[in-house]
Amino acid sequence: MQVTMGGILTQLFPPSPKFTDNNLPSLVGKVFIVTSANSGVGFEVAKILYCKGGTVYIAGRSPTKVAAAIEAIRTTSNEGPGYIKSLYLDLSDLSTISTCVSSFLAQETRLDVLWNNAGIGQSPAGSVSVQGHEAHMGTNCLGPFLLTKLLLPIFVQTAKSSPRGSVRVIFTSSGLVDMKAPEGGVSLTELAPDNLSKDVVRNYSASKAGNWFLASEFDKRIRKEGIVCVTQNPGNLRTSGWTSDRIPWAARKFFSPVLHEPKFGAYTELWVGLSEDVKCEDGGRFAIPWGRWHPSPRADIIQSLKTKEEGGTGLAAEFWGWCEERTKEFAGNRSAGQ
Ligand SMILES: NC(=O)c1ccc[n+]([C@@H]2O[C@H](COP(=O)([O-])OP(=O)(O)OC[C@H]3O[C@@H](n4cnc5c(N)ncnc54)[C@H](OP(=O)(O)O)[C@@H]3O)[C@@H](O)[C@H]2O)c1
Repeated sequence: MQVTMGGILTQLFPPSPKFTDNNLPSLVGKVFIVTSANSGVGFEVAKILYCKGGTVYIAGRSPTKVAAAIEAIRTTSNEGPGYIKSLYLDLSDLSTISTCVSSFLAQETRLDVLWNNAGIGQSPAGSVSVQGHEAHMGTNCLGPFLLTKLLLPIFVQTAKSSPRGSVRVIFTSSGLVDMKAPEGGVSLTELAPDNLSKDVVRNYSASKAGNWFLASEFDKRIRKEGIVCVTQNPGNLRTSGWTSDRIPWAARKFFSPVLHEPKFGAYTELWVGLSEDVKCEDGGRFAIPWGRWHPSPRADIIQSLKTKEEGGTGLAAEFWGWCEERTKEFAGNRSAGQ
């Protein structure tokens, strides 16, 4: 695997953000979903969208936490507020996703941006999702894959009456992809039950490479509709992922000086979701803090994004097929037509 130290360092020590809430126009009339905006980066994204007048859906697995977040956002944000609502979504249980989408579609006729923000890390080796998949792969990849796929028809419908490139799907990756993802990102061999790694950081990083694969594969299917699909590393942020006791004490101490406030991660997510600098032609790319493209993405992963016919290894296409196969039972009778 080829990793450049410059590419890693610029993510750990990013320049000041250029695209912040101050650059955002009014978002009145726009509709957004942020998965698990009850904490961390997602909370900051939802707050900014709401302050700018957007209609924001927080999709999360804990109705109590989501309700508390909505209350906090409503009471602290009085600048031209929009609408903020909840959706029940447990990404580790594929059976909840179709109901979440139905609930959304019953309330809205457009969807401008979906931030697949929710994610887990540090799940102990052997942890599985409700359907028995490795926990990180199940929650970070299969759930967001199915959610995005079931929402495609409303994205396509929204894109027909929106400026090209303004309707977007965002997947959330991590800087650890550069350092710890397996050779090529993630392969079906690696996903075979007997081959699953006991290294939790590797499992998390593989799922985050999977997020990049999904952004690239969705882009191949929806760019023609004028929809942007990209992935991003929000940055190293002082959120529960880093403060959890599951992270070894020494690692927490070591990384503490390079952790930033969650609002900075929101700037990365806002840039990919809303900046006019991001175009349809950027589909499948990997963004880094606080809103730039990765200067030196891993060459072995770039090869995975290309099909064998294009001279690549086709790992991303294989991963897409695996996600389709693992989720088809839960897609209901909705056809995304893609
Ligand atoms: N913090 C960093 O340094 C960093 C770096 C790179 C990438 N990221 C990524 O950024 C994203 C946001 O993380 P964060 O740092 O803001 O951490 P966070 O505060 O822990 O947020 C993660 C969110 O994901 C939700 N979640 C977990 N399992 C879920 C499930 N099964 N269904 C629905 N929601 C679920 C959590 O909900 P509950 O509250 O219900 O548990 C929580 O709201 C994640 O994808 C993470 O991998 C973070």
